[in-house]
Amino acid sequence: MTNTLAHLAHLEIASPDVEGSVAFFEKNFGLRAVSRDDDGTTYLRCWGDYYPYSLIVTPGDEPALVNMAWRTGSADALEEAAARVQAKGIEGTWYDKRQGHGRSFQFTGPYGHTMELYWDVPKHSAPAELASIFPDRPEKRSSHSAAPRFLDHVTIASPDVKGFAAWYSEVLGFRIMAYTDIEHADITVFSVLTTNEKSHDLGVVLDSSTRGGRVNHIAFWTDSIQELLVAADVLMENGTHIEYGPSIHGIGEQSFLYFREPGGMRIELNTHGYRNYVPDWQANTWTPALGSNSIYRNSAMPMSMTECFPPDAGKPSATEEGVVPGTEDELVNPYAREGRG
Ligand SMILES: [Fe+2]
Repeated sequence: MTNTLAHLAHLEIASPDVEGSVAFFEKNFGLRAVSRDDDGTTYLRCWGDYYPYSLIVTPGDEPALVNMAWRTGSADALEEAAARVQAKGIEGTWYDKRQGHGRSFQFTGPYGHTMELYWDVPKHSAPAELASIFPDRPEKRSSHSAAPRFLDHVTIASPDVKGFAAWYSEVLGFRIMAYTDIEHADITVFSVLTTNEKSHDLGVVLDSSTRGGRVNHIAFWTDSIQELLVAADVLMENGTHIEYGPSIHGIGEQSFLYFREPGGMRIELNTHGYRNYVPDWQANTWTPALGSNSIYRNSAMPMSMTECFPPDAGKPSATEEGVVPGTEDELVNPYAREGRG
């Protein structure tokens, strides 16, 4: 089954500090708030998003992924995808209309992640003062130096990376693009999947906690490495600690940058990377020593990067222990160091 899903359409995250999160996304990262509910839930967009919004920030006790919404390849594909999920014993819920898009099917998958699928969604129509001179642009390019173009991907956490990848591949047609195993151990710690020609729009990291449905990061796209470097500079100058990067992943060959927003969620900005159109692609297995995380194979991933959200109950996070992500006082990931060659 191919082309059941077309692409990632929007993400909904919870923040214990919605006002702080929204202010950060608008003032520091260059997104634009387009709508707000009475409870503070705020809908934001990047300048190049084709639909009205791509990020919903909603009040919550902890940073978390509330929902990940994919657009299907057609109206029929929505029915087919829902039937395939239901055939696995997951009932799900149909909505006629919610959050500004049309009929949707929402379900919680076997590892606790809530996913929504829809076909009907309005195209973004920019207000006159933000209209682009170019017909293909939904809105004029942002004048904010750090502004991403559009939403790119989401990387969740699962206690069974291969099991997660296999289920979403079998049921919804995601192509499995790569795995990362720890050296000298039969443990898969990472995988990437895609609905289209991008190297991935869904990532999976190993979750050693007992909490289901966790997320590692959400990611936005910028057009060039120059813009990514400027974004890193602008964020840093305005008080955001850079957790990891800028550098290039071996898997996907994307340039990346990671930081946290005020609600605690890890945000990635990325660019570059190959396109892959091979329908029967066979996923290769990488190791950290092969450069899965860092293509230059000369630096270790910070241990803080393994933190997922909501936090593991009972375990202090690196930040709670007084360690600032992206600084020298933090621990070093033993996986990344071991056997580096
Ligand atoms: Fe990522």
